[in-house]
Formats: sequence, C-alpha cells, structure tokens
Amino acid sequence: MYRILITDDLGQAGLALLKQASDVQFDVVKLPDRKTLNEIIGVYDAVITRSGTPLDASAFQAARRLKIAGRAGVGMDNVDIDAATLRGILVMNTPEANTLAATEMTLALMLALCRRVPWADASIKRGEWTRSKFNGVQLSDKTLGIIGLGRIGSRVATRSRAFGMNVIAYDPYISEEVANENGVELVVDLDELLTCSDFVSVHTPLTSETRGMIGAVQIAKMKNGVRIINCARGGIIDEQALYDSLVSGKIAGAAIDVYSSEPPRSELLRNLLALDNVVASPHIGANTHEAQRDVAVQIVNQVLDGLRGVNFCNVVNLPFVEGVDYRSIQPYMTLAEHIGSLQMQLVRGRIERVEVECRGEPVDKLVKPLTVALLKGLLYPILTDAVNYVNAPRLADERGILVSQTRHPVAEDYSNVILCRVTSSVESRLIGGALFLHQQPRIVLMDDFRLDALLIGRALVTVNKDVPGVIGTVGSILGNHGVNIAEWRMARDEPGGTALSFINIDSAADENVLSELRQLSSMLDVRQVAL
Ligand code: NAD
Ligand code: MLT
Repeated sequence: MYRILITDDLGQAGLALLKQASDVQFDVVKLPDRKTLNEIIGVYDAVITRSGTPLDASAFQAARRLKIAGRAGVGMDNVDIDAATLRGILVMNTPEANTLAATEMTLALMLALCRRVPWADASIKRGEWTRSKFNGVQLSDKTLGIIGLGRIGSRVATRSRAFGMNVIAYDPYISEEVANENGVELVVDLDELLTCSDFVSVHTPLTSETRGMIGAVQIAKMKNGVRIINCARGGIIDEQALYDSLVSGKIAGAAIDVYSSEPPRSELLRNLLALDNVVASPHIGANTHEAQRDVAVQIVNQVLDGLRGVNFCNVVNLPFVEGVDYRSIQPYMTLAEHIGSLQMQLVRGRIERVEVECRGEPVDKLVKPLTVALLKGLLYPILTDAVNYVNAPRLADERGILVSQTRHPVAEDYSNVILCRVTSSVESRLIGGALFLHQQPRIVLMDDFRLDALLIGRALVTVNKDVPGVIGTVGSILGNHGVNIAEWRMARDEPGGTALSFINIDSAADENVLSELRQLSSMLDVRQVAL
C-alpha cells in the first residue's frame, strides 16, 4: 500500500482517482503548520501540495519514507528542491495544467484595473449611480511590457495583442524567434521595457534572481501613471516600493493576485490592499473549474505512475533530458543499471572514474538517462535504497567519482551497446551490455572477452587457465552442492590462454562452494554476483 498525504485543496476528480486505486491509502490534512507536517510526514510515500504548504529541508528530513513530492500547480518556490534531491525524493509539478487559467486571470485583473470594475460593482451595490466616477483607460494602442515570456507570459501576449496592444517582453532566456512567433518585440534589457511600457505584467518564477527585481530603482524608470499586474509570485515586485509609488501616484494602479507572504497579514500588505488604486485577489489565478480538475488529475496520475515506477513525468529534479518517455526506455535503463551493478560487484579498490559510451540506436540518444541509471546500479550494492535516479549523479560526485559520457550512432557488432569502463585505485574494467530483441539484457563484453550472457539473477564469474577438464570439474562441484546451472557462457583470449565463464545459477552458491572452486589449481578468480 502506498500512503499519500494531501496538504492543500485538491480537485474532486483527483481525489476520486485516489479512492479508486486499490494500492493507495490517502489522508487529507489541510495546510498543516510546520511542526504538524514534520510530525506526520514520516509515514507517507508521497505528498501532494499546492502553494499553501512549504516543503522545506526539515520536512524532507522528517520524511523517512517519502519518494515523491507532488506540486499540484506550477510554482516550485515553496519546495526546497535541493533538499529533496539530496534525499533522493522526486519532485514533480503540473506545469501546463493551469496556464490558461492564470493567463485569463491576468487579463481579468488588467481589465478590472483599467475600467475600475471592482469599485463600480461595490458602488452600484451600495445603491449609488455615479457613472462619471468610473472613467477608465483603454488597452488598445497602449504598450504592455511582459517580464518573463514563458507559458503564461506568451499567452498573455497573444491575447493582449487581440486588444490592440503593442507588446514588448524582457526574457533573457528565450530566443527572438519565440518572441516573434507570439508577435512580441523582445527587448534586451529590462530598463528599455520599463521606460516604454504603459502596463507592466510579471510572469517569471520567483528565484533568487527575480526576487525584488522590480524595486524602487526600477519603478523610478517607469512612465508616470504606469499600471502594474502581478499574477506570478509575491516578492518579484518589492511591496514597499510598490506601496510608496501607488501612494505618490507614480504608479496609477496595481492588480495583484500573489503576495510575499500568504495570506497577506503584515501591516504593509494590509495597507497596500486598502489603497483605492489596487485591485486584489487571494491567489486565485489557477482557480477555474477546468484548471483545478486538470491539475488534480494530472498530479495524481503522475504521483501514482512515479510510485509504481512506470513513468516519471514532469519531474523537475530528474537528471534526465526533458521529454524522455520512461516507459519506452525502461528496458535500456535496466540494462544500464545491471552493468553498473556488475561493475561495482567485480571491481576491486576505490572507484575513481566511470566512462559510459552508448553506441547505436536508440541508446546513442539516451546517454544522459542511461548514465544516471548506470550510476544508480553502480552505487546500489553499497547504498541500497538510499540511491535512486534523482540523487545517483550527486552521490557519485560526492564520492569523488569522475563521470564521462560519449555516444556514437553506430555499434559495430550489435544494434545497440552500452559500454562502461570503471577505473579504480587498483584496476580498470570494461563491461559491455546490449538489449536483445529490445527486451533481453545480455552482457556482450568483459574486458577482452566477448560473450553473450544473460544479465539477470545470480551468476558466477570465473577466470581460469584454459586447460582441459575445468568445465566438468566446476559443473560437478556446483552439482554436488545442489547449485543448478541455468546458462553457461565461456570465452577465452587464445587457446591455452585464459578463459572467462559467466555461469547463471538458480540459487546462491555458499562460501564452501566458492572456496572449493577457488582451490582448483587452474582457477584464477571466482566471484559471485547478483543482479
Ligand atoms: P514558465 O517557466 O513557463 O515561464 C517563466 C519565464 O520567465 C521563462 O520564459 C523564463 O525564461 C523567464 N524568466 C526567468 N527568469 C527571468 C528573469 N530574471 N528575467 C526575465 N525573465 C525570466 O512559467 P509559467 O508557467 O509561465 O509561470 C509564470 C509564473 O506564474 C510563475 O511564477 C508561476 O508560479 C506563476 N503562476 C501563478 C499562478 C497563480 O495562481 N497566480 C498560476 C500559475 C502560475
Ligand atoms: C501555481 O503556481 O500553480 C499557482 O500559484 C497556483 C497554485 O498554487 O495553486
């Protein structure tokens, strides 16, 4: 049974999916404070949250069983991703599901601010009929400056253009082509955007770089009477500077959905919300029926897939290339893991370097995820469940293991092959594996020996002098001890030279068997491995 904790409002459609899942037990504990969260989180395999519950390092420290932290939404500023990564916890979000909701909310706020809709509404409900008080400004022919032209920013741009606005954007991380496709002029520095815009709307994530990026200095550069919209994250705009400029009239109006602390209880925020030129909402950008349904269904499916190990969608801390379909590459990942595990079980000394080479299709395109899987397999024999796809590269790095990756479109003898050379303080070993029929992991190379051995289960790896009688003697010893041989593959460097055997066995060989084998005069090395 997987235990899942839900700490925020989650749409009914998502809860219904959880109820249907026979392998899931879930609890809803809404907005627990830090102490409560840390007390309860230890028994759960996954947690699903929105922006209301911070998942900080202390929560991840207390989360002994946690495998997945799921964010039902986009913003990850309430999740300490580094702390999760170190503990090997997958962090995932649903980046697309509420994009349209937040886009439309931005436009709703911008229009409400220009036409003073909330004040007009309140006035008529008080029984007043004061039409002349509610003179607004039009959007058409005005310049909108968008900071952050990602999913939401670009959609705000296209919709604002439909209102006849001239749209410019500042986003140093997107290309001019993307901006052009959205009919937006990309400006190269923020100051240019600030000096030209009648409306400024922020759509960046909250990061150390964007926190406070619009402060008193930036506001001073803006046009007098500018209007500002923040439907992204509180803290991107300095709230004290915003308040001061709204009071002075430098900024004509602001529309705000998000706050540096939520709910907004500080004196500054209460004063800001009380201003007559501020339209405010309680972080409801994502609150449409459609967005909440989609966010809930997506995050629940993603978390269940992740827990069951069948897919890893929208994981923000997987060291994979984006867009890899885990299901289709899973057999190759298992092959890479087994190669890593075999290396760790065979190599002597402290591992210093791991070189991974992926040859042939499709592995040449998968060198990044396959290296991660190989490192996971390599570290598993010493770290067991503490290592996973999320933290394997970090843990390898912490151990001073240098990792390199290369790829080649052609594999000479096989359609695909993953080669791994491990260099330790005392030796260097090369192991190559290939997937036969897209399913069967086989080991095809061990140093100078070419093989075709099954890379699953238990096996004995023996090296002996190539003299007559060894196979018979080894077979008899195993048979006498009740160890059944499943497959036996042998390779030798030259007649009368050295032979390597990869012997798949159905049950473990105990120490007596191993020592009897080692005592054979022709035997040079006997190792037992389990994959
Ligand atoms: P996104 O990642 O698609 O886009 C963000 C863009 O910001 C990217 O193009 C990135 O290049 C740009 N960017 C990053 N740093 C920048 C910087 N220093 N200067 C300029 N541009 C920078 O994200 P999105 O899905 O469009 O979300 C945008 C924001 O909206 C996020 O903060 C998200 O949390 C927030 N959001 C709020 C609500 C809500 O309920 N109010 C709902 C959804 C999303
Ligand atoms: C988000 O980042 O997805 C939004 O802020 C909405 C939310 O947290 O629910």
